[in-house]
Amino acid sequence: MKKLIIANWKMQMTVRESVRAAKLFAKRKWPAGVEVAIAPSHLALSAVGSVVRGSAINLAAQDASFDQRGAMTGEVSPRDVKELGARAVLIGHSERRRIFFETDEMVARKLRAAADAGLIPVLCVGETLEERTKGKTWEIISRQLASALPKTFPKQGMVIAYEPVWAIGTGSAATPSDASAVHRDIAALLIKRFAKAQADACRILYGGSVDGKNAAAFAGQNRVDGFLVAGASLKVQSFFRIAEACAKK
Ligand code: PGA
Repeated sequence: MKKLIIANWKMQMTVRESVRAAKLFAKRKWPAGVEVAIAPSHLALSAVGSVVRGSAINLAAQDASFDQRGAMTGEVSPRDVKELGARAVLIGHSERRRIFFETDEMVARKLRAAADAGLIPVLCVGETLEERTKGKTWEIISRQLASALPKTFPKQGMVIAYEPVWAIGTGSAATPSDASAVHRDIAALLIKRFAKAQADACRILYGGSVDGKNAAAFAGQNRVDGFLVAGASLKVQSFFRIAEACAKK
């Protein structure tokens, strides 16, 4: 299975800056063994989509609503995300859960809506530092998975991103072996819920302070099938180093 790396640009770039960066990403010759996607802001999806069309870069969105249509001022329909060319959408990123009070129930509905719209849901899970210190890492992650995973595996595929909240944007990543242990537990849970072929095809990404230096150590671990990267994805060169680290594994 090819490794997948997703650049999560969060709200770090204007539309114009996103287009400029996307052009640099689209021009690069990415290693053949790696799939690359970028997730710009919603407002930049259309313009960035035009830039990357026909290139090796896939388009993803950072979020989408739990309904396809309705009186929901300010919301973004997963159908629009799909119409603008995105293949995948992040669901339940810890910043959505923490800053925008997304509950497990909302995350579950969002995942289903994304899948119904034909998007590949990238379900983000992860524990806080307090939860980890109390030894509750797996309790939290298994709860987040149990409530969000759909009954039937989306035919277009699904991705899980394990992102310990305390490792996001802090410069202190999990250790590769700690991450791999969680990834293997997630893989085991997937096998219980879905057909083996589906569970095996569900990539499990690690996210949280991944950079060009530590990516190789993670990429060598069992069931670390790629990365969700924010800080090191804003510049093409640092993201490219992560791709190279994946290609060597
Ligand atoms: P980071 O963020 O790479 O800046 O740690 C990862 C994420 O929030 O997805």
